[in-house]
Amino acid sequence: MFATARSQPSPASLPGHGAVHPLWLRLTHWANAVAVFVLVASGWRIYNAAPLFDFRFPPSLTLGGWLGGALQWHFAAMWLLVANGLVYLGLNLATGRARRRFWPLRPREVLHDLRAALRGQLSHADPQRYNAVQRAAYVFVTLTSVLVVLSGLVLWKSVQFPLLRDLLGGYEAARHIHFFAMAALVGFVVVHLLMAALVPRTVLAMLRGR
Ligand code: HEM
Repeated sequence: MFATARSQPSPASLPGHGAVHPLWLRLTHWANAVAVFVLVASGWRIYNAAPLFDFRFPPSLTLGGWLGGALQWHFAAMWLLVANGLVYLGLNLATGRARRRFWPLRPREVLHDLRAALRGQLSHADPQRYNAVQRAAYVFVTLTSVLVVLSGLVLWKSVQFPLLRDLLGGYEAARHIHFFAMAALVGFVVVHLLMAALVPRTVLAMLRGR
């Protein structure tokens, strides 16, 4: 998703070597990461109290200790995700960064870059530009986060959001959507962490901005 470690130029020779991520982006990214980890771990504890499928998550991977505690963590992190997400989306749109960083997004380019990444041939020479696979993955995870919040609203206040509940196909459908959107987020995070570990200088850029 980020790049392969192959033929990395020295930092000084990188095109556009300078500010990679503005401060607001770094702050919202790390706050979002905390919110997602807390939401997933507490969500697994809530799931275990009334499983949707024929399995439970290992209690050692969950947060909250018991259903009431997990719900408190879940709601607290939900506010962080929503407030932080609004700042992230708002500033991305207002500054034109969303268009610069994530546009254009062409399926053909995504497939091309995905094939190159799987062969270990995707260059990441310019840290100020995301390749097509990164662009697709980040747009996908942003839309999935919106779906997690909307389906979560239906589960939390089903009676107060009847239109949203009907749009998602009812309470039970919203429960399934919430679960599968969570699974997609977890899948993204696993690959994301793997890629960050493979190209650690992208983590430095996300911490220091350059
Ligand atoms: C400790 C955990 C995490 C680490 C180490 C990490 C690392 C990074 C790094 C290094 C980048 C920049 C990639 C590049 O320049 O090539 C990035 C971007 C991004 N990460 Fe993470 N990440 C973490 C958790 C998460 C989580 C939990 C999410 C959401 C579910 C997330 C969503 C994103 C998104 C959407 C971007 C693109 C941001 C933008 O440019 O607008 N990350 N992450």
